[in-house]
Amino acid sequence: MKLWGGRFTKEENQLVHSFNESLSFDRRFYAQDIKGSIAHVTMLAKVGILTDSERDQIIEGLNGIKADIDSEKLAFNDAEDIHSFVEAELIDRIGDVGKKLHTGRSRNDQVALDMRLYVRDEIDELLPLIKDLQKELLQLMEANIDTYMPGFTHLQKAQPVTLAHHLGAYFEMFSRDYQRLEDNRKRMNYCPLGAGALAGTTYPLDRELTASLLDFYGPTLNSMDSVSDRDYSLELLSDLSICMMHLSRFCEEIIMWNSNEYRFIELDDSYSTGSSIMPQKKNPDIAELIRGKSGRVYGALVSLMTTMKGLPLAYNKDMQEDKEGVFDAIDTAKGCLALFTGMLKSITVNKANMEASAKNGFTNATDAADWLVKNGVPFRDAHGIIGTLVLTCIERDISLDELPLEEYKKISPVFTEEIYEAIKMKTCVDKRNTIGAPGRDAMEKVIAIYKEKLN
Ligand code: ARG
Repeated sequence: MKLWGGRFTKEENQLVHSFNESLSFDRRFYAQDIKGSIAHVTMLAKVGILTDSERDQIIEGLNGIKADIDSEKLAFNDAEDIHSFVEAELIDRIGDVGKKLHTGRSRNDQVALDMRLYVRDEIDELLPLIKDLQKELLQLMEANIDTYMPGFTHLQKAQPVTLAHHLGAYFEMFSRDYQRLEDNRKRMNYCPLGAGALAGTTYPLDRELTASLLDFYGPTLNSMDSVSDRDYSLELLSDLSICMMHLSRFCEEIIMWNSNEYRFIELDDSYSTGSSIMPQKKNPDIAELIRGKSGRVYGALVSLMTTMKGLPLAYNKDMQEDKEGVFDAIDTAKGCLALFTGMLKSITVNKANMEASAKNGFTNATDAADWLVKNGVPFRDAHGIIGTLVLTCIERDISLDELPLEEYKKISPVFTEEIYEAIKMKTCVDKRNTIGAPGRDAMEKVIAIYKEKLN
């Protein structure tokens, strides 16, 4: 049954129907659609457009439909979209009273409402997934305050940090991802129902009431905007794209750290896969897939941006294209967050290899130069002196820690035995104690802040 058959004399072409329909995907928010309809009729009765008995019959019918879809007793048919499906089914079940459901409403404000409710619900599921990931990260951080490792710039060993510090960088990124989603939730939390097709309605609707019944802060303030923008979906896609980018970078590092060249960590067998031909292989497929899936989330963002960019106000059917990309991006991000957390839980940290790598990469060269500065040598000269010593070490294949004092003294008489204490990994890290740095005291303060944040 078509909602709009009255004005038409011919049947719809079958290809047109399949091209135009959205039930195959918008069925996903049937629960939100029904919830919105219940709020709508509750309000209609309150303002005297429906009797209490009509309201009750409609609500009972809608609840029955919801229960039957939940339990798969009611199957979807070839209705045009979820709104038509529910309305037709309601009329089927309760007769003429059901025909009053759509009073003072258009599918334009209805779909705007459904999508908002859906996005809002999904944000509420995404937030705890990010939090779980952060909890896992925090545990790893606490366990690795003294796990020294090279910090890199240009993928060249630069200065020593700790694994806790490195992971803390991701903790920060995920905190912002969390806040972005929360911000979006706040910004979008206004109710478009009552906007009608585009120009409101002549019925005395109580929009404040529907808004509050559906836990919105209030009604939206411009009916044309209400039915024609999808910026909350775009924000969600943008938030998810950024979050996926963070996951993807983290995965890239996990893949490197897990490689034979680094051996910083080892992924658990349960999060790795094998090769069909090479018996020795244990591949980080999960990390690679998460890295790869960031592409489809960005794709959804670019796709919807492009769909929206040329649309005149108000509703246009192009906007039906707002759904599948958003659904896919949400599924992808949720799956990736959950799997990533599981994978993180399963890693074994190879502390010795990390520390050895920090040592053999001259990551303490800056500290050696700084020691000279503290002993009266101008920084530019100190830089040159240590550079020369690094060259000597490279020739001999040893670290600065292993270079004998005579060699140091040959280049500068300022050096004493104290240099060795100054360039120890522990000293290099623990002296970096301004807030945000990897030193133990600084790190402990930050971890305490994170702990409080998470609770
Ligand atoms: N399936 C449609 C969509 O998703 C519902 C709104 C239909 N409105 C209309 N004027 N045809 O956008």
